[in-house]
Amino acid sequence: MINTRTAIVTGAARGIGAAVAQRLAADGLAVAVLDLDETACSDTVDKVRAQGVNAIAVGADVSDEAQVAAAVDRVRSELGAPVVLVNNAGILRDNLLFKMSVADWAAVMQVHLQGAFLMSRAVQSDMVTAGYGRIVNMSSSAALGNRGQANYSAAKAGLQGFTKTLAIELGRFGITVNAIGPGFIRTDMTAATAARMGMDFADLIAAGEKAIPVGRVGEPEDVAHAASFLISEGAGFISGQVLYVSGGPQG
Ligand code: NAI
Repeated sequence: MINTRTAIVTGAARGIGAAVAQRLAADGLAVAVLDLDETACSDTVDKVRAQGVNAIAVGADVSDEAQVAAAVDRVRSELGAPVVLVNNAGILRDNLLFKMSVADWAAVMQVHLQGAFLMSRAVQSDMVTAGYGRIVNMSSSAALGNRGQANYSAAKAGLQGFTKTLAIELGRFGITVNAIGPGFIRTDMTAATAARMGMDFADLIAAGEKAIPVGRVGEPEDVAHAASFLISEGAGFISGQVLYVSGGPQG
């Protein structure tokens, strides 16, 4: 297809990233489905291709400089220069402060913050050359503070500062940079949170349904819808913003 824009979605083997990849495909973008394990991306790649656009699976650790460079090179040669990037890859290493190890602090910073930095730096020249670009960073309502998540909360708040700075630096090249702050979204990550808390996932969801103003927890497609909007051409005057997708006003 001529003039198809190329997007990279990190952490797209499952969960929110997989939904974003499918939604961007439905919007007509070719999608590089990037995750730690290339084979784990095949389900998402099949669903993206089913929308009639081109897709490739890319195995890479977003926190590793050399792997990021190789991954972006592959995308350039196999799909075309990327002009859309969704920094979605993420991990949890939850613990109360007094039990949090340096390794768990560092791992979360590496994936969320260094990962978003390395990926954004690697694609910015493609976007500058194109005179057009869209970067969306997956923050979280946890940026506002969340018990047991000092590392994750700091990383997600850090991503918001990163977003605003890139918006200032890159705006003149036709590039917008925004963040999405999902609240409680039903994925493997929140299922793992329930397990850590010693709760059934169904009970955690029921508690969420009571607490969230719209009366339900979020689905990956809710986040994908917001990503689709921020990535759309018409959103070119929105930059440096954080859009909470949380079913209410509380981040
Ligand atoms: P998930 O755990 O289901 O999926 C995360 C994906 O990222 C996995 O496929 C994983 O393999 C990949 N990944 C992890 N480390 C990576 C690395 N170093 N390099 C490449 N890929 C890597 O998580 P979920 O729920 O889909 O979350 C996606 C993003 O949304 C994360 O950044 C998360 O922090 C954020 N988020 C999720 C919320 C939720 O309620 N599920 C709420 C707020 C934010």
